[in-house]
Amino acid sequence: MGCAGDLSGVIGTVKALVVGSGGREHALAWRLLQSKRITEIICVPGNGGTAALERCRNLPLAVDDFEGIARFALVNNIGLVVVGPEQPLAEGIADYLTERNITVFGPTKAGAQIESSKAWSKDLMREAGIPTAEAEVFSEAESAIKYLQTKGAPIVVKADGLAAGKGVTVAATLSEAISAVEAAFGGQFGAAGQRVVIEEYLSGQEASVLAVTDGLTIRPLAPAQDHKQIGEGDTGANTGGMGAYAPTPVITADLMERIQTEVLQPAIEALQQRGIDYRGILYAGLMITPQGDPKVVEFNCRFGDPEIQAVLPLLETPLEEVMLACAQQRLGTLPPLAWRSGAAACIVLAAQGYPGSYSKGMPITGIDQAESTGAYVFHAGTKKQGEQTVANGGRVLGVTAIGDTFEAAISNAYNAVSCIEFEGAYYRRDIGYRVKGTGSGN
Ligand code: AMP
Ligand code: GLY
Repeated sequence: MGCAGDLSGVIGTVKALVVGSGGREHALAWRLLQSKRITEIICVPGNGGTAALERCRNLPLAVDDFEGIARFALVNNIGLVVVGPEQPLAEGIADYLTERNITVFGPTKAGAQIESSKAWSKDLMREAGIPTAEAEVFSEAESAIKYLQTKGAPIVVKADGLAAGKGVTVAATLSEAISAVEAAFGGQFGAAGQRVVIEEYLSGQEASVLAVTDGLTIRPLAPAQDHKQIGEGDTGANTGGMGAYAPTPVITADLMERIQTEVLQPAIEALQQRGIDYRGILYAGLMITPQGDPKVVEFNCRFGDPEIQAVLPLLETPLEEVMLACAQQRLGTLPPLAWRSGAAACIVLAAQGYPGSYSKGMPITGIDQAESTGAYVFHAGTKKQGEQTVANGGRVLGVTAIGDTFEAAISNAYNAVSCIEFEGAYYRRDIGYRVKGTGSGN
């Protein structure tokens, strides 16, 4: 690693606290711990993977126990709190901690609206001239259905609020779209569905550009792609993500420059105009249209999962330096982010039945063997039961490997996956099929 981002002397040692319990949080804790400057990580509540990391321990508090988290951070001299999931951000964890002089990586409640309200986010995009699908917002079913009838299918129906990734219907037929509207106003998503955004269907390839920002400067991380659908060939129900890889060659250097000037920079400026000091991750979910133009499908206020499990192993700049620079609003003074050459791929192992109902408690074997191949096994939904690690979620593990090419990274990841077993383990065998044979992406 060169001297990129070396601010030793400026920062000193840091104890960090990571909020969340998924593969994203395991990957964040793992990456932070690679820096000698990080003396300890506390994960709230963490999972079986974070429990096993050296210099890391789990603290059994809920992610929305702001008071408990603040008290712990103050008493234990925590120098950085990193918030993984959107829910606590949308509920104002960053505001709560910042008011108590605790350094936080993650936007305020006002900033998190970019994810917690699709209508708010669309409005911001419109105001900033950010390319996105044409959309209308409705607060009752009748006018929404009339609008659907004028537009026809395919069309996309979205619950306005946070719905754990289940609020979006990409409707191939008008009747599917009408059912989605009726389900939302019928209460399927609770308060999140009391407003509905109906938007133009976009075709093309999706990509995730996660950018770090201190509210003034915004810099993209290595671009990634994930596979949202459960079935091979990108078919079947939408999930949180069944695999990811980076840096995707779909986002060329020229396209990234356009994304910077047409999407990221205008978004930060529009947030500033609304008086929002946004520090953390701005995640642009993009559709690259068949004409090669980037259009925003959604913004998120946090790291993508599993994307970050493929991005972090490539990042050479110490992660805490980037995060502290964002939290302390000095990202503009940080040297350019340094990246390892080559590629990374992450394969998600899920419990049978996911994203529907699934069982828990199955013992998992082979994690050590998988890691002995050089891969990283990030725990998404596991817990420790005595000495045994058992499945405890729909997405159970994310297995990431790096390689000089996508071909190598993908094959290394599958090689590691083949060491792991638990009853009913399911994973897609075609992760990265679009980029196999395209070299390394950089
Ligand atoms: P969102 O929660 O807004 O990211 O939507 C979830 C998924 O639905 C996206 O990752 C896309 O695969 C799909 N999607 C959302 N909006 C559109 C759109 N306007 N056109 C096509 N697909 C979409
Ligand atoms: N992998 C998609 C997301 O994190 O929203």
